Amino acid sequence: MYQYYPILFASLLLGASHINAAPGTEPTTDFSQAEPGEALPGGATTHHKKINANAFSHASANMSFEREIDFKVGNGFFKRLWVTAPASTQAADGLGPLYNARSCQRCHLKDGRGHPPNGPDDNAVSMFLRIGIPPQTDEDRRLLAEHRVNNIPDPVYGTQLQDFAIAGHKAEYSIGIRYEEIPVTLADGTVVKLRKPTYTAEDLGYGPLHPEARLSPRIAPQMIGLGLLEAIDADDILALADPDDRDDDGISGRPNRVWSAEFNKVMLGRFGLKAGAPSVNEQSQGAFNGDIGISVPLNRSGAGECTAKQTACQEAPNGNSPQYDNLEADAQVVDLVVFYSKNLAVPARRDVDHPDVLAGKRLFYETGCISCHRPKYVTRSEGVAPEQKGQLIWPYTDLLLHDMGEGLADNRPEGVANGREWRTAPLWGIGLTPVVNGHSFYLHDGRARNLLEAILWHGGEAQAQRDAVVAMNAEQRAQLLRFVESL
Ligand code: HEC
Ligand code: HEC
Repeated sequence: MYQYYPILFASLLLGASHINAAPGTEPTTDFSQAEPGEALPGGATTHHKKINANAFSHASANMSFEREIDFKVGNGFFKRLWVTAPASTQAADGLGPLYNARSCQRCHLKDGRGHPPNGPDDNAVSMFLRIGIPPQTDEDRRLLAEHRVNNIPDPVYGTQLQDFAIAGHKAEYSIGIRYEEIPVTLADGTVVKLRKPTYTAEDLGYGPLHPEARLSPRIAPQMIGLGLLEAIDADDILALADPDDRDDDGISGRPNRVWSAEFNKVMLGRFGLKAGAPSVNEQSQGAFNGDIGISVPLNRSGAGECTAKQTACQEAPNGNSPQYDNLEADAQVVDLVVFYSKNLAVPARRDVDHPDVLAGKRLFYETGCISCHRPKYVTRSEGVAPEQKGQLIWPYTDLLLHDMGEGLADNRPEGVANGREWRTAPLWGIGLTPVVNGHSFYLHDGRARNLLEAILWHGGEAQAQRDAVVAMNAEQRAQLLRFVESL
């Protein structure tokens, strides 16, 4: 089920490249009609429910009735608004003291994605800044080299900035965002104005940041299909890696390697925007702790992400209670939330056979978007939950890290990922973002205001594909976008 370090090392040595793939999952070269299974991106988990704002909130379609009850209970915990401890209901207290939001759902809105503040009356709840500093000591360097940590924390602020605090405590900051317009002229003369953001940490509550602190903006990503991404065999992902670009296509692709506190070993990173977490479980427990300030089995501190220097925060009452294993969210609560998070179904594709969609598909494949946005996989058949077992899936990602150029760089490394690398974003469901979330803000920080802007921000390893889109005529561009919208 999980990647062992020696296997990872061996496959790096062998220099496995893009062209290797499990049989039956090579990208097609026939665009005359839709492929078998293509209309069901999540295999048998795919839902066919009505397309409306709830399109990302349905359970895996092949889930049994009994398990659907757990899914619904998990949904309740995903939406639960945590309150300050002590409270009369011990089951829901323990918020903060520092936090970004009071529930999972506040950021993963409608199980979809977050967004940057949209106009002066909006807030920045569904995004935050991660923070880190370069290694300062030999011990820091050892921890990073052994993949024991992904980051060296700011000594006062930790690895994430929280913009809220419970009554009587100071929030850490508020996010400052400035946009600068950058015009891009396409081959047919069309001018697209990109907005380039600059981020600052304002209103600091605990003194200055470390002088070398680096900030990384993150928008909450959509929640669909995550159990399927976890069910892809690690070897299938590693077979796509080409760290030294041996096939000479300008595209490398590197696996992140991160410490798993659950399995006590180094594993392939898959979740988070730089693939900094090995599993939905560890990403979710990290979210309870870092985003909401809730203690969980893998991080038992009732003070959330507050550091040893934040003494008032450390000493505040917490919600750890004996009836919940001296935690705020015990294993049972966490398991239900993780089960929910793994089973949000991907919606069926629309219009797979439409001539414009097929023409756009050809452009997507032949332009080389699929070098990173890898179309399809068959999930593992062993050690996987019944819903996710042995499914033909179409996530359009290789889950690898790619250098995306200076324009998208955050300059903050995370594990193996350097300051210019991001995990290829899965594209399934992306066309329904406006329906589910009422906006079309894309990329890791929501800077792109539509799909075309998202593509035009591609640089680094994706420079050639970006340039090919700039060179397209209006009809080809529309077809390419039509294909992406149909995902
Ligand atoms: C304050 C906003 C916020 C809250 C609250 C929040 N998340 Fe997230 N979530 C994010 C962001 C931002 C990311 C991307 C993180 C990264 O890149 O490190 C993310 C990533 C994830 C991912 C990985 C998705 C992927 O595509 O890799 C999962 C799973 C997840 N969150 C689950 C949860 C759960 C469960 C909760 C509640 C316990 C929660 N989140 C609460 C903002 C939030
Ligand atoms: C070198 C690898 C690579 C290539 C080639 C590539 N992409 Fe991407 N793509 C990425 C990565 C990495 C991201 C996430 C970047 C970020 O969030 O800053 C991304 C993000 C996106 C997004 C936004 C996803 C979201 O959820 O916000 C879209 C849309 C997209 N790519 C479409 C395309 C298209 C169309 C092409 C071909 C013209 C293409 N990409 C080529 C790596 C690639």
